[in-house]
Amino acid sequence: MTVLNTEATVGVVGAGAMGAGIAQVAALAGHRVKIHDTFAGAGEKALARIAGNLDKEFAKGRLEKQKRDATGARIEAVSSLSALADCAIVIEAIVEDLHVKQRLFAELEAIVPDTTILATNTSSISISAIASVLKRPDRAVGMHFFNPAPVMKLVEVVSGAATSARYAATVFDTATAWGKTAVHCRSTPGFIVNRIARPYYAEALRLLEEGCADIATIDALMTDGGGFRMGPFRLMDLIGHDVNYAVTRSIFEAYYFDPRYRPSNVQKELVDAGWLGVKAGRGFYDHVDGSTQPPV
Ligand code: NAI
Repeated sequence: MTVLNTEATVGVVGAGAMGAGIAQVAALAGHRVKIHDTFAGAGEKALARIAGNLDKEFAKGRLEKQKRDATGARIEAVSSLSALADCAIVIEAIVEDLHVKQRLFAELEAIVPDTTILATNTSSISISAIASVLKRPDRAVGMHFFNPAPVMKLVEVVSGAATSARYAATVFDTATAWGKTAVHCRSTPGFIVNRIARPYYAEALRLLEEGCADIATIDALMTDGGGFRMGPFRLMDLIGHDVNYAVTRSIFEAYYFDPRYRPSNVQKELVDAGWLGVKAGRGFYDHVDGSTQPPV
């Protein structure tokens, strides 16, 4: 076993839905966590969201008071990237854009020691491409959590062309120690889950565009009849349409514009309108009153 010991500080970059969830998971496992975001106030907002989650767990009797307080106290929002210099692993959860991620990885490499693992929570982007800007690309590993990170068990541990087996094993064993079910795979566009999930969203969007059935009917069919935890539209609202559209585009481009992965105009309309789903209060559903809001 090559688990990161709990003395190791974990850095998280990106304090959105995923970064906050990952910070919570690492702190619950006993690590000190530093979370950084370029957007002023995002780190503090993440801390408040995490505190709210921990309070809920405590209220439900799933977390002792002492553990709730200790977990919250281990997480700190930091305003500068250089504050991550003492981290044994930095997990990136920023916007799904290759060039932005590459810029961040290059910046991080100049800050952290040689032994620090640089992990990315990317949903779809090539780990080899992100790592290509590093002097030490062997230390870049995909560590792909699912939304919401504190609840979902799966973590895909993804190796790019240059990833060392040793670092991938450390990420795998650490995810396991954090209570997750880790699965190792090689970097291909969308890895395993997002590759298989693309047709789930794409066909639902096509059914909607073709006027076959409405949003609530398709969702109800997949949950009540199909046994899925969430229907495709509710799930896309949870993921965030900006994120899901970026993932679809990235997989479409990576597979040489195979029409099977073509993004939908409905998705683009939602992104253009800023109706990003749960985080914006509106997507396919109105998350205030629960009604469906057909975007077209
Ligand atoms: P989000 O939009 O909720 O949060 C992203 C955060 O990153 C924002 O707070 C933004 O201010 C910050 N940010 C952007 N550029 C930055 C930079 N250069 N430095 C520091 N902070 C920066 O996005 P979300 O949903 O948390 O997704 C983040 C990553 O996780 C993406 O790569 C996405 O594909 C992946 N992911 C998303 C899932 C989902 O269901 N939303 C599930 C699994 C992975």
